[in-house]
Amino acid sequence: MVHEVVQGEDIGSKRLLFFQMNGEFRLENLADQSHQFFYGHRYWSAIKKAVDTSGAGDLYPRIEATAKKSGAPLDFALAMSAVAYMTLEQCGSSFLLSSYIPAVEKEKPEDWLRRRATALRPSLMERLKGKSSCERVIFDEQNADGWFAIQATQDITTAAELDKRPFHESDKRCYEGMGPIPVDCRSGSCGTCWVGILGGNENLDPVEDFERKRMDYFGYWDSGFVDSQVERPLIRLSCQTKANGSVSIVIPPWNAVFGRSRREKESGG
Ligand code: FES
Repeated sequence: MVHEVVQGEDIGSKRLLFFQMNGEFRLENLADQSHQFFYGHRYWSAIKKAVDTSGAGDLYPRIEATAKKSGAPLDFALAMSAVAYMTLEQCGSSFLLSSYIPAVEKEKPEDWLRRRATALRPSLMERLKGKSSCERVIFDEQNADGWFAIQATQDITTAAELDKRPFHESDKRCYEGMGPIPVDCRSGSCGTCWVGILGGNENLDPVEDFERKRMDYFGYWDSGFVDSQVERPLIRLSCQTKANGSVSIVIPPWNAVFGRSRREKESGG
């Protein structure tokens, strides 16, 4: 696992902040995979070939021109082209030379959406007991086994912990026997367990004051595309988020851990 203590600045107060980054947080190491959860990811190779690296002209016309030139369906190509130009801006052009080829399934976008955040059909025994559905959290939409069951009003990390597969072997941030979502405190203190919501957001409890304050503190809602004021933002602290039905999430490959170092700096220590 990659660990690094980094320095940032609180935009409002201008105070220096220090926190530890865990996991794979350098975009250049994940330039080909960071958007695997997009349906349009399958067109990534064609988009990369069409990118204009000259750096000339406004960004939007270049995004549009690249999307058209790629030959991919425009609905998906525009988003992927935008991803490519942001990656180019942040990491330089070396990712355009990689030999990475995305997996392409035959599934249509409407099938993909239909499968997203779906409950499982219960077994015969469960149906005899009156159970009409098995709710679940899908954390890897590309993998048929990428889900764990969840009970109504259970928070996501508690449900995740009941899945005893060896996730710690593939993600060193995970503790053995604690499920696929990295956690450290389970009390909203550390900021480790953030996830993105891909589907089933309506099945989550609205964000409460405590989670809202903690996410503001951690800065996960500063990204500009997440409206932190809505009842159910698209980024949540999974140890503070209860589900009442099935949901699809993405577990980010990195997290920051906030704690002593940040507090010491804030108090001048
Ligand atoms: S595990 Fe620490 S904030 Fe959720």
